[in-house]
Amino acid sequence: MINSPVLSKRLATLCQLISEKTIFADIGTDHGYLCVAYIQQRKGLKAYACDVNARALKQAENTLIKYQCQNVELQLMDGLSQLADDVKEIVIAGMGFDTIKTILEKDKVILPKLNKIIIQCNKNNDKLKKFITYLGLYINEHHIVIENNIAYEILVISGKNVKNKKLQDNENYIEYLDYHINKIKLITNYDKIPHLYQRLIQLEKKKVRKQLKLLHQNIDYDDIQTQSKLISEQIMALDVYKNAKCIALFSSKESEFDTQYLLRESLPNKKIVFPKITDTMEFYLYGEMEKNEYGILEPKNTTKIDANAIDVMIVPCLGYNIAGYRIGYGKGYYDKYLSNTNVVTILPALKQYEVSFTPEKTDIKMNLIIKSEKEKQ
Ligand SMILES: C[S@@+](CC[C@H](N)C(=O)[O-])C[C@H]1O[C@@H](n2cnc3c(N)ncnc32)[C@H](O)[C@@H]1O
Repeated sequence: MINSPVLSKRLATLCQLISEKTIFADIGTDHGYLCVAYIQQRKGLKAYACDVNARALKQAENTLIKYQCQNVELQLMDGLSQLADDVKEIVIAGMGFDTIKTILEKDKVILPKLNKIIIQCNKNNDKLKKFITYLGLYINEHHIVIENNIAYEILVISGKNVKNKKLQDNENYIEYLDYHINKIKLITNYDKIPHLYQRLIQLEKKKVRKQLKLLHQNIDYDDIQTQSKLISEQIMALDVYKNAKCIALFSSKESEFDTQYLLRESLPNKKIVFPKITDTMEFYLYGEMEKNEYGILEPKNTTKIDANAIDVMIVPCLGYNIAGYRIGYGKGYYDKYLSNTNVVTILPALKQYEVSFTPEKTDIKMNLIIKSEKEKQ
């Protein structure tokens, strides 16, 4: 019986990401474990174990002998300079940004021809992501592996935009954020160092946003409706609302405050506008509606209404804190829009979405928070 190498979590994830039954090259193979595991576990047709360093390649050779692994070809080469024509996918792992950048840049013409480029860069992943975009390639998957208190990011790239799997969709995202939050908190006086403190606030807010998104997936629809009705009645009783000529609403998702009660009651005697996203967010008269790329209904072929003409805006949120700051979906459309207007903002506050977080400098405080239950005096 032939043994299999025991892979670290990081290498096991890389191995899983290579397609079954293809031909792949491990660029900077060193120990060669990935190639052996690929042939054994993923029924690989052939693998190339490549390294610029002859001593590293000797190690890979020893591994192949130890595990009696055939179908792996050893190749002494710098980066992708002599990549075999039959290679369909490559892995570049365990190196720093500068090395990976040099490897990609030197042979960038080859890259769009490959089905998959799997990269695990040890540091500076933000720089790497920008560089990949600069090369005209797409990050189709984003994985995080946390092992021995180190967070490894793994990107799956290709010349085609297959599916943009966001970092936030990763199931380990909270663990990943916690790792970075704790790293900052280990630094002495981190709260007195402005850029570190801001970064911490950002990371903590991202974590709350992810928790809220999970909460939104598990809502009690009847409860949302009951609260929406109660909140709407309170909003309609406000003088500022009664006196308003133009009201901005939004198309609600199932887990959000439902604006239909306000729409129904206010449409006969007020001008109603809804947001429409192009590059930025603008407001248009309510009328015929169509779904945008996120599946949200927005006005079609109606008149654009200037920010100064809107008296009251009902603002959506994923969550909010008691001070009146909201957490949105992370694109910043409302904060940008509201930074240039004097519209009265009302946040309909469903009770399950009240959370604790420190706002960022660019966050806009809501004028009024209306809850389903009146605060006891
Ligand atoms: C730290 S090891 C990583 C080994 C393995 N890929 C992993 O993730 O565990 C980095 C390897 O990359 C090799 N390497 C560095 N620059 C390279 C280049 N330009 N072309 C090919 N291999 C390179 C080094 O010789 C070394 O063996």
